[in-house]
Amino acid sequence: MASRPFIVGNWKMHGTRAMLSEARAIDRAAQRLMQVEIALAPPFTLIHPVRREAEQIGVGAQDCHPADGGAHTGDISAAMVADAGAGFVILGHSERREGHNEKDKLIAEKAAAAFDAGLKVILCCGEPMEKREAGKAVDHVLRQLKASLPDNVPEAGERLTVAYEPIWAIGSGEAASIEDIVAMHSAIREFLVKTFGEEDGTAIRIIYGGSVNPENAAEIIAGDEVNGALVGGASLSAESFMNIVLAAQ
Ligand code: G3H
Repeated sequence: MASRPFIVGNWKMHGTRAMLSEARAIDRAAQRLMQVEIALAPPFTLIHPVRREAEQIGVGAQDCHPADGGAHTGDISAAMVADAGAGFVILGHSERREGHNEKDKLIAEKAAAAFDAGLKVILCCGEPMEKREAGKAVDHVLRQLKASLPDNVPEAGERLTVAYEPIWAIGSGEAASIEDIVAMHSAIREFLVKTFGEEDGTAIRIIYGGSVNPENAAEIIAGDEVNGALVGGASLSAESFMNIVLAAQ
């Protein structure tokens, strides 16, 4: 099991250079909070500037293309985000699955490209409300996870993180209940151990995302098999993000 909680801020499509002051403030505060691993995933345009400003925290991308390069107007390869200073990439977020019609197979190809480029991967999975109401949330998430993983995950325990994000909890202000989070994380852990073996399967971090805020963070992050949080809205201000980090200590 990973020793330090992992708290990642996903800025989504928010942030111009004016936001660099938030990244600086987060980085300054992080220097006094070494017992938590902290990272930000700003938009592509801010990866390099955030990396330059921030010494202590991890910096990642929110997507990458599966190809190494070529005629893909508007796309960015894994090697390019690594070159800009990213150490990881978030893949399979439901906003990409829905907004860009990304399927599991494409996500697995992107993950393979990211690992080849030396990046770590935060692989997202999560169920829509209909699946939860039908009692099929665990089946849905495990099937999605299995299909979104590439055949080869090098150093899985170190380089793969799974983010469980129930779709209905994202940006809704209503996080999943701690009981549902723990039940899902336990099922994911069992799947990871079966897939990667005891050592890697227990080392892979499973983080929760979906309306995490400074008020609910402590309870969520203390949950069994909850190794951290993927935070959207509440990561946009250094104050609320660092209050979540403080709750994770
Ligand atoms: O990537 C982050 C998640 O989608 C959660 O977003 O904290 O705004 O609900 P949220």
